[in-house]
Amino acid sequence: MLLLNLDHVAIAVADLDEAIERYRSRYRVEPIYREIVEQQGVEEAMIPVGGSYLQLLQPLGPETPVGRFLARHGEGLHHLAYAVPDIEAALAHLAAEGAELIDSEPRIGGRGARIAFVHPRGSNGVLTELVELA
Ligand code: CO
Repeated sequence: MLLLNLDHVAIAVADLDEAIERYRSRYRVEPIYREIVEQQGVEEAMIPVGGSYLQLLQPLGPETPVGRFLARHGEGLHHLAYAVPDIEAALAHLAAEGAELIDSEPRIGGRGARIAFVHPRGSNGVLTELVELA
């Protein structure tokens, strides 16, 4: 399977405005966009860093995946995302390798990208996202 790039590192935050301001003042970085992704129950901000992004995720409510993550673990690293050229081929390969897929088929994420998640179980404890950019 071909990984093109580390697309983003996602951090779960309780307050997106506050997190953006902290990254702005500490690291002098600026989000290039901010988007509500209803289907994932998050508002996200993407901050470019080199060829990748820092993705700050604020849950839209407590009964969302990121809301439950925050309640359980507090703020912190949530997932890593790799850009792939062909997400269906990547998912087929991972399924054949015995990876536990959260999404057996791609769905639409931020930036209109096609995305799919791989469960941290059996993946060295890391929630992993595949991204095929539009
Ligand atoms: Co992500």
